[in-house]
Amino acid sequence: MRDDLRRAGRLLEKASSVLVLTGAGVSAESGVPIFRGSEGLWRKHRPEDLATPGAFRRDPRLVWEWYQWRRDRVGTAEPNAAHHALARLVLGREGVTLVTQNVDGLHEEALRRAAAAEEAPVRRVADTLPLLLHGSIFRLRCTRCDHGETRIEPVDTSSEASLPRCPPCGALLRPDVVWFGESLPADVVERAFAAARAAEIALVVGTSAGVHPAASLPGVTLGAGGAVVEVNPEETPVSAHATVRIGENAGEVLPALVEAALSGAESHD
Ligand code: OAD
Repeated sequence: MRDDLRRAGRLLEKASSVLVLTGAGVSAESGVPIFRGSEGLWRKHRPEDLATPGAFRRDPRLVWEWYQWRRDRVGTAEPNAAHHALARLVLGREGVTLVTQNVDGLHEEALRRAAAAEEAPVRRVADTLPLLLHGSIFRLRCTRCDHGETRIEPVDTSSEASLPRCPPCGALLRPDVVWFGESLPADVVERAFAAARAAEIALVVGTSAGVHPAASLPGVTLGAGGAVVEVNPEETPVSAHATVRIGENAGEVLPALVEAALSGAESHD
């Protein structure tokens, strides 16, 4: 086995608590576009036109059109080898907290499938669901009251009048995602930072580590005396501080890494 994978596998195997932080790169091999880089969404679209509260106030139909396009892309995507490996890791041992910036539901789908295959108890599955720092693209919430709902079926974006409305109060519904300039859900952030402080190792996968507070989590683990393993084909601000850096695609290395972490890295020497 390769030296970087063996070292990372050993760290993971020994740690009693693990934080896994993922970003858009973990879904890239499922065909879900990432945000930054030459092929990234923010190369072709301006976030201030599509992913801010002001953009939604100005042109809710345009914002919904963009989110419905993304919902269509994600709705036909399948979890890839990286999602499946991480699902095995969180279900396969105690003490792993999965935190994601992704809104695409692919971690949840991989967990659902792994749990069904292993016939894991419902409570165990509930305990392993990822902390969603940036919300979910399949959830909608009211712009006026506290109503929220899951809606998988397509949103009709043909006119402003056809956009979804809140059943209790009649105001416009919006995607339940975090936009630029908005706060993240406080309880989720609190749990993510607590997990980062407690973690002996932070496994950071497929994030450019430029958007805070998510990007601060690996530093919290390091500051508390833990180690960081980064999986990303490109260097990021985390790279220079990483205890082990694996410069490859998540789907190519996570299955072997998780295998080593679950079965005992020693036996792979
Ligand atoms: P980015 O698009 O900023 O970064 C994706 C990262 O994934 C890059 O560092 C790539 O090098 C890496 N990558 C690409 N393919 C990969 C692969 N197959 N395996 C592993 N890594 C790969 O996405 P995020 O860091 O998730 O927020 O972006 C953070 C937030 O910024 C998003 O949640 C979104 C965005 O604007 C909001 O919309 C609020």
